[in-house]
Amino acid sequence: MLVTEITAQSIDEALRKQLDALSMSVESREVGTVIQVGDGIARVDGLRGAMAGELLEFTGANGKTVYGLAQNLEEDEVGAVLLGDVTAIKENDQVRTTGRIVEVPSGKGMLGRVVNPLGQPIDGKGPIQAEGMRPVEFKAPGVHARKPVEEPMQTGILAVDSMIPIGRGQRELIIGDRQTGKSAIAVDAIINQRNEDVICIYVAIGQKASTVAGIVETLERHGAMDKTIVVAATASDSAPLQYIAPMAGAAMGEYFIYTGEDGKPAGPENPGRHVLIVYDDLSKQAVAYRQMSLTLRRPPGREAYPGDVFYLHSRLLERAVKMSDENGGGSMTALPIIETQAGDVSAYIPTNVISITDGQIYLQTDLFYQGQRPAVNVGISVSRVGGSAQVKAMKQVAGSLRLDLASYNELQAFTQFGSDLDKATQDQLTRGARMTELLKQGRYVPMSVWDQAIAIYAGSQGYLDDLPVSDVVRFRGELLAYMHASRQDLVDRLAAEKKWTDDIKADMSAAIEAFKTQFSASATA
Ligand SMILES: Nc1ncnc2c1ncn2[C@@H]1O[C@H](COP(=O)(O)OP(=O)(O)OP(=O)(O)O)[C@@H](O)[C@H]1O
Ligand SMILES: [Mg+2]
Repeated sequence: MLVTEITAQSIDEALRKQLDALSMSVESREVGTVIQVGDGIARVDGLRGAMAGELLEFTGANGKTVYGLAQNLEEDEVGAVLLGDVTAIKENDQVRTTGRIVEVPSGKGMLGRVVNPLGQPIDGKGPIQAEGMRPVEFKAPGVHARKPVEEPMQTGILAVDSMIPIGRGQRELIIGDRQTGKSAIAVDAIINQRNEDVICIYVAIGQKASTVAGIVETLERHGAMDKTIVVAATASDSAPLQYIAPMAGAAMGEYFIYTGEDGKPAGPENPGRHVLIVYDDLSKQAVAYRQMSLTLRRPPGREAYPGDVFYLHSRLLERAVKMSDENGGGSMTALPIIETQAGDVSAYIPTNVISITDGQIYLQTDLFYQGQRPAVNVGISVSRVGGSAQVKAMKQVAGSLRLDLASYNELQAFTQFGSDLDKATQDQLTRGARMTELLKQGRYVPMSVWDQAIAIYAGSQGYLDDLPVSDVVRFRGELLAYMHASRQDLVDRLAAEKKWTDDIKADMSAAIEAFKTQFSASATA
């Protein structure tokens, strides 16, 4: 006879087995009614269990579904912002809670596409095959899941990579007045990733649709669009859409950090990918959020912005990350853009975002109009963490460049009207003028880090000092062309060593001198 002993353990096991097999989800959905609607805001009655930020489903009279976000949770009503066709919703329409927050599609299928902040395609190229959905609000990983920034994120822009180096996983603010070349820096940085293992996301907030179309066309022309996702909430889109656009872009980027090439979760064996995300620009997102908040009758704070706009931006930028090796080592580098008014960096939104990011690239109108483009103010631009990620060859030649140029700028202002200057001062002025000129760079012509290092080496070794300032940019271009045509071996050696050895320095100096005889000849001919 078979006797089964019933022990406490066997009962426990049996229960556990049954519980594991049990898959039941309790869905609680509440239904409420719209009591008032206007300005893209709906006041809803009867949703006692709604959560802040929850997605609400509105059903219009003609059966049309419009989504909204629960924002104000008050004692007897909920204030919600509408994300879709506002006109379809009227008083007394039904509203349901969904238990979810807004999610956007994500995956490889998004690459090369232009989507709205809900992830729907707006480029007329047909539906998107997404691999899954990701929530627009996502808690950023904690410190133990991360590691310090260590790999460079090359922008291909000499002034940035040499003096304000950016590392993968860093947050570097691009700040400046209107029309100072802010977007140009970000777009050039994206173009420079076309041959790198970096996926790019460009989030356009509150820009004209024609400007966004121009950027997409530029990225296509330079072969960078097939690895890029453009998320567009244009100036004609509603404030709530402009408000969630950066978060939606971050969610689409997070897919690539947290999953490997095979679509499975990233880990030590399955590396996560690298993402570069541009938020162009967060000033407009803050304005959209202010508009939403004021129509929801939240109390205005400094400059009429709601007090939690700081929290909005810090939550977003905390999502830029460099993951530890156990977590796949993926990264998301964020380049938020902020527009200032008349150079005022001490306004509310600029100070907020400056304090949240790891440094800023400050672009200045007067430099821009003097022809110094990119119009980087070297004195107050800084990258607080990127130095540890900078390529050694670059660090060796450009280590003191930023401070040298800053002191040159001061000296220049100071000696503008003086005549008899001592030799050392004169030399410093000569060098400073040429190094400043050397940093000029047109759009869409990213330079490799080795080319950049060679150009700065030539300048810092004094090979430009006897040239007229107006010849410096031409000299740089022709020198690099010469190096690639006649001394590719030397460029390859620098790239292989990744640093300047005494041998390479000696050979490089000889090569530059050889080129220079030829250059001077053609200049005087
Ligand atoms: N390095 C450069 N060389 C030459 N022209 C440039 C350079 N950078 C930007 N520009 C030009 O300057 C103009 C303004 O650039 P951009 O649109 O990037 O500025 P912005 O600061 O983003 O402007 P907005 O405030 O309107 O967004 C554009 O016509 C652009 O082509
Ligand atoms: Mg711009």
